[in-house]
Amino acid sequence: MRPGVLITGGAKRIGHGLSHYFAQKGYDIALHYNSSADAAQALQKEINALGVSCQLFGHDLCDIGGIAPLLEKVHKAMPGCVGLINNASVFERGELMVTDEALFDRQMTVNLKAPFFLSQQFARYFKGSVVNILDSDIVQNNISHFAYLLSKKSLGDFTQMAARALGPDVRVNAVCPGCILPSIENDTSYEEKMEAIIPLHSHPGVLEVAEAVYWLMQQQHITGQVIFVDGGKHVL
Ligand SMILES: NC(=O)c1ccc[n+]([C@@H]2O[C@H](COP(=O)([O-])OP(=O)(O)OC[C@H]3O[C@@H](n4cnc5c(N)ncnc54)[C@H](OP(=O)(O)O)[C@@H]3O)[C@@H](O)[C@H]2O)c1
Repeated sequence: MRPGVLITGGAKRIGHGLSHYFAQKGYDIALHYNSSADAAQALQKEINALGVSCQLFGHDLCDIGGIAPLLEKVHKAMPGCVGLINNASVFERGELMVTDEALFDRQMTVNLKAPFFLSQQFARYFKGSVVNILDSDIVQNNISHFAYLLSKKSLGDFTQMAARALGPDVRVNAVCPGCILPSIENDTSYEEKMEAIIPLHSHPGVLEVAEAVYWLMQQQHITGQVIFVDGGKHVL
């Protein structure tokens, strides 16, 4: 049986790159999406053409109660699943004093609560490895996206605690991307400014994020580890 991997938010951008990379490595893909049904179907065709299976799972991760049934479906469809990549995320601007409850809840639900329960349910059904996608800013205190960054810092702590709680059957690690793709709200000027000041003077790409995630999934004796894929941005 081929190994499988569940990738949340797997239809577009970094998630698309992860789905494609793992398919090329011979994994069956359980591709989770929310609003990007068309992109998910197009990617499913591309992945099937690589000779592996790609099954689609639509779900709004704000619906936390639907996560247990989602994992049950994944288990039925792909019993050989050995990996979960918590990639889906929302990234909304808002300093502390303008963050209302709705914004706070959206960030915390999609970026922290959903990965928490996805990991819990993954560990009920499968053995293998969880990789959480964080953000290289977790070691700094940028306040422009206050609730977003708080959710990612907390997911970093969850990574360590879950690594302890879920061993020996499930390893839990994380990757912290730096500037990989411009966010929808930004033009490319932020990336250009950062490129001039980060130690390596160039940003990694989606492929390097996928390579780090893949490497962590292969290591049988590494858990609770965090890899920064950011051109050195986290040491600024
Ligand atoms: N882009 C970067 O340079 C960068 C930098 C640092 C960290 N990261 C992290 O890397 C990961 C991927 O980044 P990205 O820029 O590719 O992410 P993104 O485009 O902002 O979001 C990825 C996916 O999350 C899914 N999503 C959002 N809300 C959802 C919900 N309520 N329910 C289910 N799925 C939901 C969306 O799926 P649908 O499209 O199907 O709705 C979306 O395609 C994220 O965790 C992000 O925080 C990225």
